[in-house]
Amino acid sequence: MGSSSVSTVAALVVAAGRGERAGGDRAKQFQALGGRPMVAHAVEAFLAHPAVGRVQLVVADGAEDEARVALGSLAGRVAIGPGGATRQESVRRGLEALDGADPPARVLIHDAARPFVPAAMIGRVIDALDQHPGACPALPVVDSLRLGGSTVEGMVARDGVWRVQTPQGFDFGAILAAHRAAPPGATDDVAVAHAAGLTVALVEGDERAMKITVPEDFARASAMLPSLVATGTGYDVHRFGPGDHLWLCGVRIPHEAGLVGHSDADAGLHALTDAILGALGEGDIGVHFPPSDARWKGASSDRFLAHAAQLVADAGGRILHVDVTVIAEAPKVGPHRAAMVARIAEILGGHAPRVSVKATTTEGLGFAGRREGIAAQAAATVRLPDRG
Ligand code: CTP
Ligand code: MG
Repeated sequence: MGSSSVSTVAALVVAAGRGERAGGDRAKQFQALGGRPMVAHAVEAFLAHPAVGRVQLVVADGAEDEARVALGSLAGRVAIGPGGATRQESVRRGLEALDGADPPARVLIHDAARPFVPAAMIGRVIDALDQHPGACPALPVVDSLRLGGSTVEGMVARDGVWRVQTPQGFDFGAILAAHRAAPPGATDDVAVAHAAGLTVALVEGDERAMKITVPEDFARASAMLPSLVATGTGYDVHRFGPGDHLWLCGVRIPHEAGLVGHSDADAGLHALTDAILGALGEGDIGVHFPPSDARWKGASSDRFLAHAAQLVADAGGRILHVDVTVIAEAPKVGPHRAAMVARIAEILGGHAPRVSVKATTTEGLGFAGRREGIAAQAAATVRLPDRG
């Protein structure tokens, strides 16, 4: 028997946990990673694998709709059923759901908490099932192992010790019978199989198949996603008019004139907002905040910039660096530069990019040189998930 019979390999993805250690406003498997829910990453890896014929997902009772939303366009290709109070119970229920009129010959049991499932690793697990009723991906332990409480009390040899991952693959009938007979307390399906006397082969695992357990793991996983770096530019001009102050790069500056505009006429923040929108390919500030809309009359431009930053976050991206150049004879930017940098960093909030603000005159030439208005240009560099 080979792994060529596509319809006989099923994937069972378990996603019925609470994700308590990971925190967040919802269970970790429904939190976004690279702009899409974690569970969608794992499910897609199996749907895309040529040797996998069907995918069964189990979720907590009542979470079926949340799961469908999370899967988006993939939802129609996945069977969704209820899990149980423990991982072991969730797996058993998923196996029962697969055990209909046409049960698969083999099953790959996978944690939704492991979003990245390299296709080659799936292949290694399936191939090993030609020789053994079970197979699991494993990685060697590289750190020394010691027993102890507050002090070291003993040594544990690390030779022959493995960290096992998922998907763990099994002969379907054998693992279903093993689960039906298993006492509670198993943390994975290798434990269930082993207790039933099934031989489980070790195949090479993959560091990318890490499990997300605590909040810090999200950042580590995000760094593994394929990404691209995009740069956008922006340019804006506002005319001087009556007034005794103006807004520039989010800072109020007393001046002999004001700037005329529909909003607060902050050319620096407008150019920067356009630069971020440009990096995203999301049009320009006028598309998002039409001047014809009374809501934006006199609006403080930090809202425009915060909106652009939110779009980057929604796309699963991160602003790396922004650079604004103010083009004006007056007011002088120097005395306000530090405040401008701080204000822009504050508006961009959690993105914590590097921020640069600088200024130039035009040697008296042109509209800026004649002190008719102010111009600003900006560049923004953004890292975005690469969806191919
Ligand atoms: N799982 C499940 N049903 C349960 C418990 C866990 O399907 N009753 C799934 C989780 O959704 C996860 C996998 O088993 O995909 C591994 O479990 P773990 O990493 O422990 O996730 P949680 O139990 O959700 O997290 P925590 O233990 O921090 O609450
Ligand atoms: Mg758990």
